Amino acid sequence: MRLTTITLLLGLFIWQCAPADPSTSVGRDGWLSGTTDEKFETVTNHIGGFARAMVEVQYRYMEIYWAGEDENWDYAAYQLEEMEEALEDGLERRPARAQSAQHFMNVVIPDMEKAIESRNKENFDQAFELFTLQCNSCHAMEQVPFITVRPPELRVGSVRLR
Ligand code: HEC
Repeated sequence: MRLTTITLLLGLFIWQCAPADPSTSVGRDGWLSGTTDEKFETVTNHIGGFARAMVEVQYRYMEIYWAGEDENWDYAAYQLEEMEEALEDGLERRPARAQSAQHFMNVVIPDMEKAIESRNKENFDQAFELFTLQCNSCHAMEQVPFITVRPPELRVGSVRLR
């Protein structure tokens, strides 16, 4: 190969490897703009904080309740696990909430898990009452006592046995 060809190929290779301009706008119609840091900032805002996690927690709370009423224990266990993950992610985003969450994560969720594992509706109903109390206890500790949850009365989810 001639030297000019090698230089040309090398140049092309380096150009290919060069990082894309970090301020290029991306996403549909380039909605995500700014530097890489600015883009991350925008994306973290879209992901949301603890309230966003709670919207998911509430959905899973209702599903656990109806799963228990159906005695669909595998579904209840699944929902509890997903709820735990949603809480963990929420706490990673808002570590200031971690202290109040400690009891819920270390005691309340494992107790609920045991009640589900017992596959006994009476155990479940009792555990669910305590579970609900603990949701509200954390709301009180975190200065949002006006967010009071109660077991759902209306069933809106599509997952059901009957
Ligand atoms: C770490 C303590 C903590 C625990 C445990 C907790 N919550 Fe919350 N919850 C909060 C906080 C704090 C907010 C307000 C969010 C904010 O200010 O960003 C909230 C908000 C909510 C909201 C309102 C969400 C919205 O914006 O529409 C609901 C519903 C909710 N929680 C349900 C529950 C349920 C159900 C449980 C129990 C399974 C639970 N929470 C357990 C701290 C907690």
